[in-house]
Amino acid sequence: MKIAETPRITLRHFTQDDLNALTAILADPFVMRFSLSGPKTLKQTQSLLENVLASYENQGRGLYAVVHKDDQKLIGYCGFLEQEIDGQREIEISYRLASAYWGKGLATEAAKAIRDYAFSQLGLTRLISIIEPENIRSIRVADKIGMRHEKDSRIRNLPVRIYAIHKSDVS
Ligand SMILES: CC(C)(COP(=O)(O)OP(=O)(O)OC[C@H]1O[C@@H](n2cnc3c(N)ncnc32)[C@H](O)[C@@H]1OP(=O)(O)O)[C@@H](O)C(=O)NCCC(=O)NCCS
Repeated sequence: MKIAETPRITLRHFTQDDLNALTAILADPFVMRFSLSGPKTLKQTQSLLENVLASYENQGRGLYAVVHKDDQKLIGYCGFLEQEIDGQREIEISYRLASAYWGKGLATEAAKAIRDYAFSQLGLTRLISIIEPENIRSIRVADKIGMRHEKDSRIRNLPVRIYAIHKSDVS
């Protein structure tokens, strides 16, 4: 199922058929440098994919496949994760792309489309991103989609920055 389309990408539901392409992306240590769990094996990606497919049913949202229109390749994910920060339930915009596609503004394009989908179609009013302070690229994406550095926190004892945006912040 298609979620959104931008000039260069399509965002759609993942399917089981995405397993191999997603596994290749999430096995790359460079792509997984800023990740609490590190590079993923096929088995770990399979389990992630199962959780993602279940989340479409249970929560009506989840992580979506980012497909590059030019070559029709799966190049990563962008979408929603349920989080708990300082005892509060939050919905995170999460994004991760294959490194060959970095630095072209594609993550920003995907994250903007997901932000707009959240506020206009899902009725959400607040989104956060949890970002390690050294993850400059991700911080730039958060900035460019209008998120603000709201506070600092810790996850599993790791310092993280919490970026946030409210529906009313988007003009
Ligand atoms: C974070 C990520 C999604 C960004 O994807 P992307 O498509 O490169 O993002 P964009 O091209 O839209 O924007 C990247 C920004 O970082 C900047 N950037 C690129 N290389 C950089 C570098 N080496 N150092 C600092 N900034 C850099 C770009 O210039 C751009 O900012 P600008 O538009 O102001 O110039 C991608 O790097 C990624 O998947 N990283 C691994 C997963 C991850 O960390 N996800 C986020 C977890 S919080």
